[in-house]
Amino acid sequence: MKHNYLAIIACMAVSLTGCGHASQKGTAPEAAYLDPSKDIETRVEDALSRMTRDEKLAVIHAQSKFSSAGVPRLGIPEVWTDDGPHGVRPEVFWDQWNQAGWTNDSCTAFPALTCLAATWDTELSALYGKSVGEEARYRKKDILLGPGVNIYRTPVCGRNFEYMGEDPFLSSQTVVPYVQGVQSNGVAVCVKHYALNNQELNRNNTDVNVSDRALYEIYLPAFKAAVMKGGAWAVMGSYNLYKGFFNCHNPYLVNEILKGEFGFDGVLVSDWGGTHDTVQAAENGLDMEFGTWTNGLTNGVSNAYDNYYMARPYRELLISGKQTEENLDNKVRRVLRLIFRTSMSPDRPFGKFTSPEHYAAARKIGSEGIVLLKNDGALLPMKDGGKILVVGENAVKPMTVGGGSSSLKVQHEISPLQGIQERFKGAKVEYQRGYVGDPTSNYNGVKLAVDLSEDRSAEQLIADAVAAAADADYVIFIGGLNKSNHQDAEGADRLALGLPYDQDAVIEALAAANPHLIVVNISGSSVAMPWIDKVPAVVQDWYLGSEAGRSLADVLSGDVNPSGKLPFTFPVALEDGPIRTVEQYPGIPYQQTLSGITRTIYKEDYSEGIYVGYRWFEKQGIKPLFPFGYGLSYTTFELGDASVRGSLSSGRYGAGSYPEGRKHLTVKVPVKNTGSVDGAEVVQLYICAKESSVDRPVKELKGYKKVFLRSGESAVVSFEIDPSAVAYFDEGAHEWVAEPGTYQAMVGVSSADIRSIVDFNVR
Ligand code: BGC
Repeated sequence: MKHNYLAIIACMAVSLTGCGHASQKGTAPEAAYLDPSKDIETRVEDALSRMTRDEKLAVIHAQSKFSSAGVPRLGIPEVWTDDGPHGVRPEVFWDQWNQAGWTNDSCTAFPALTCLAATWDTELSALYGKSVGEEARYRKKDILLGPGVNIYRTPVCGRNFEYMGEDPFLSSQTVVPYVQGVQSNGVAVCVKHYALNNQELNRNNTDVNVSDRALYEIYLPAFKAAVMKGGAWAVMGSYNLYKGFFNCHNPYLVNEILKGEFGFDGVLVSDWGGTHDTVQAAENGLDMEFGTWTNGLTNGVSNAYDNYYMARPYRELLISGKQTEENLDNKVRRVLRLIFRTSMSPDRPFGKFTSPEHYAAARKIGSEGIVLLKNDGALLPMKDGGKILVVGENAVKPMTVGGGSSSLKVQHEISPLQGIQERFKGAKVEYQRGYVGDPTSNYNGVKLAVDLSEDRSAEQLIADAVAAAADADYVIFIGGLNKSNHQDAEGADRLALGLPYDQDAVIEALAAANPHLIVVNISGSSVAMPWIDKVPAVVQDWYLGSEAGRSLADVLSGDVNPSGKLPFTFPVALEDGPIRTVEQYPGIPYQQTLSGITRTIYKEDYSEGIYVGYRWFEKQGIKPLFPFGYGLSYTTFELGDASVRGSLSSGRYGAGSYPEGRKHLTVKVPVKNTGSVDGAEVVQLYICAKESSVDRPVKELKGYKKVFLRSGESAVVSFEIDPSAVAYFDEGAHEWVAEPGTYQAMVGVSSADIRSIVDFNVR
């Protein structure tokens, strides 16, 4: 099969180039770029040497909304990209965002990446990557636009749900297997949005001012890991600016750090419409331009794509000698490398789409990521039978549609209400709306057939829910955020931490009406819970995709014992967090002329430095509502005393490297399931520097392991740490430093629940 495909390409190419179908006749060698037995670099150089300048220019910018041209004369295919990151976006029209109405592109929706991070399970990350990569491969995509790894700096960022939480270690561990899983299908990831894209408000015109220490310790690690450990084949530049340059052609972030220090050999893809300048794009490392003038039809007479910064204007600079062919070749090399890694790879599997395995993966990741926040009186797990009242719009509203570019068209989406009805067959399950949020469920032409229209007043909705709650054995309120504007959605941030649509009033009323209230919050960010003391059970659910309702029912019923842990801190109030001034968010506006256009730019100071998330709360001594790493189980775990063996030596290592080959220290801790049901615990290792020449956080996550134990069973969990676990980034020397001194290994089950501490020295 593979060989047939290659032979067809070879024939096409050879007949066009006139080399003759020679190798079989023994007259002339076959073109090296077509020979799958040759290594990729040989194929790249050979293909490059055969391309004209115009052919080279054609492959570095879009030809449609999501594709770029190949080289038909040489049989080199087009590159097809698609969003990402939770499933494969439906096909769109050539020049538009709207779905094209195909009938065979309804995908499996996997849980949002916040949920994946909340599993604290790298094996599930690998399963996720492999599965979504198979869907992308089946749909003939060469680049999947994801995953997103921007750090959760503020709960109001509209795209937190697409990212992996607030901690650089957790997001680094989570992203690597995802990358490898996707790419095992011969589909490239496109890790986004590089970098410092930590909000949606003014995303196109915020210029971030951040210390090198925070940049390297907090904001870059997940990108570095995706590239250096995961081997990512593509990265997407972000819309915002850093040091006065747009990030899609930022000399510091792209040339110096990504391609220099991290040794990235893949393709830097622009975010859609993130390119602003031909000279900078040419010189500052942009390899592929997409989405300029976001509607590809404007700004051009016949084909707007010819007017892209990296098309005709670039050609003119090359012809006049103002830009070098060498720079162009460098970009083309990267694009060819991606093509040989993907569509022209001889080892590419065929993928699969909406398979039973994919639904099983989505369901498992969902149920493993759900976090049990509160469970007074062991209200959960629920027993079947009696009357269950489900209240809330999020119990029935499809969540795979909306939210921006991650919006999907799915083959099915099991709502929470359906999941509960399916699982609790012995019970009478009733539903009450409770409140009206956003009754629409459509995005870019994808509309789900759920009628959410409602005529009752807000008071009546509450009264009806309360009346139905009175005789219920359980009341489950399912609310939270949704994918509408100013919620968990691209292009705008949230306006407050509180729940929208006056849901607090509904929860308060239900709590007064029935003591058996379970609140299920569906969101990708933290929310305020002013009613927390009045509600016995609270579950943090996420956007769980196709199998959402089943994953939730798995946990509510106890079929799955919850083991998810928060990947970010839940503050009591927004003001408790590190962002406290307008300089920090949304920044101070000023006028600046960039690439010939005068624009309003917001200068934003990340003056909180490395104190993001739990690092901030712990330094300030502010108690959050729920801490990072927190999550309950239906069983209990006991941790014994931690011990250390081995040693770590002090030293320095480069900004763009890992301290490979250095000495390791092993931290061990016994853990026992002391409860009556089987379950998994995430044992977490934090490191504290007791003495340091610089300011250090109280502790930082440097290891974790999810361990499944039967009731009564014990195990010893061990962590191998190298000097990166104690290192900080020395801005002056531009190096990582593992200082000599005394450190503490803190082992616990959340950032705020440390069960054992043991000292060790770095000599
Ligand atoms: C988003 C990207 C997305 C791209 C293509 C942009 O607006 O920021 O994340 O991949 O559109 O849909």
